Amino acid sequence: MAKQVILTGLRANNGLHIGNYLGALLPMVDMANKHAAEYQINLFVPDLHSFTTPIDHMQLYEQTINNLKIFVAAGLDLNNPNIHIYRQSFIPAHSELTWILDCFTGFGEMSRMTQFKDKSDKLSEDRISVGLFNYPVLMAADILLYGASYVPVGDDQSQHIEFTRDIAERMNAKFGELFVVPKPVKEQHAFFGKDQGLRIRDLTDPHKKMSKSDETGKGVVFLGDSADTAKRKIIGAATDSLNEVRHDYTAQPGVSNLLDILTLLGGNAQDFVGQNQYGPLKSAVAEKVAVFLDQFQGSLKHVDTSALTHKLETSEVAMNAQASQTLYRVQKAVGLRVA
Ligand code: TYM
Repeated sequence: MAKQVILTGLRANNGLHIGNYLGALLPMVDMANKHAAEYQINLFVPDLHSFTTPIDHMQLYEQTINNLKIFVAAGLDLNNPNIHIYRQSFIPAHSELTWILDCFTGFGEMSRMTQFKDKSDKLSEDRISVGLFNYPVLMAADILLYGASYVPVGDDQSQHIEFTRDIAERMNAKFGELFVVPKPVKEQHAFFGKDQGLRIRDLTDPHKKMSKSDETGKGVVFLGDSADTAKRKIIGAATDSLNEVRHDYTAQPGVSNLLDILTLLGGNAQDFVGQNQYGPLKSAVAEKVAVFLDQFQGSLKHVDTSALTHKLETSEVAMNAQASQTLYRVQKAVGLRVA
């Protein structure tokens, strides 16, 4: 029997930040290396998703390759044949399946997606694209083409996973067993446990997540930031006036965020809990982040680009074949091809 598939993706916008790295990429890499013996692992860059909001198009290609290098610098095992890395736009079936799924998706259903509402609220009307609206359908195609059972993502993406399950079930009910339905989000959380990652928050507004789409970049520590810039951002992080270090996301989101970052970088949060000043905590986090960035940027320089390119091309051939098979099954079901 074919291996079950674990699949996830990370967009390449504006360079990655420590929220993506610590909250998503590192857990993804650990998960991939850990499960690759029993599962097929698909880690891809959703490059077509990148311009659902305005970006600098001249940088997209290079940022995509850079993201893949970051996976390698973070320890992804390129020699493992069960791990596949690829770019979404290099596999045309993603776009083709999206169109078909679009025609079975309700306008109301998409309008309810909270990420669409949040992101479109931030844009002026003429910059809200149909692509942003349609984003979850492309994401469903990404998942269903490979029959993924598990899709580890941050909780901001859970609604999209639920939509993927809904559209898969709807298509299966209408056309017979076309798609593997991904496991419910709750079951996925149970499967990944702590590996699912944490949501790192914006340093200036800890009520929202640290986000690549944040245009000011003040509350975001990018992986390309110098140690000094990063330190300045951490020292300037918003906290509160309660004057006691506690881990409480509701009452003290800023302080809790700093404690999380410290823990993820190997520091001991307990050393600071109960203190009545935030300065020492901020300095400790700033120091850890600076050391981490220096080390990380050093490993990134040593990534073997030709080994990466070879892996990428091999994976893209293999995944094209898998995705095309699923697409063909769907094309037959909807009457575009004869059985
Ligand atoms: P993206 O690129 O915005 O984020 C990639 C992953 O990172 C998580 N994440 C975070 N985790 C912790 N702290 C943060 N501050 C933080 N910011 C982002 C996200 O939850 C996500 O898991 N739609 C997806 C990309 C995608 C995808 C897919 C994922 C496209 N197709 C198919 C899985 C399967 C997205 O925009 O993620």
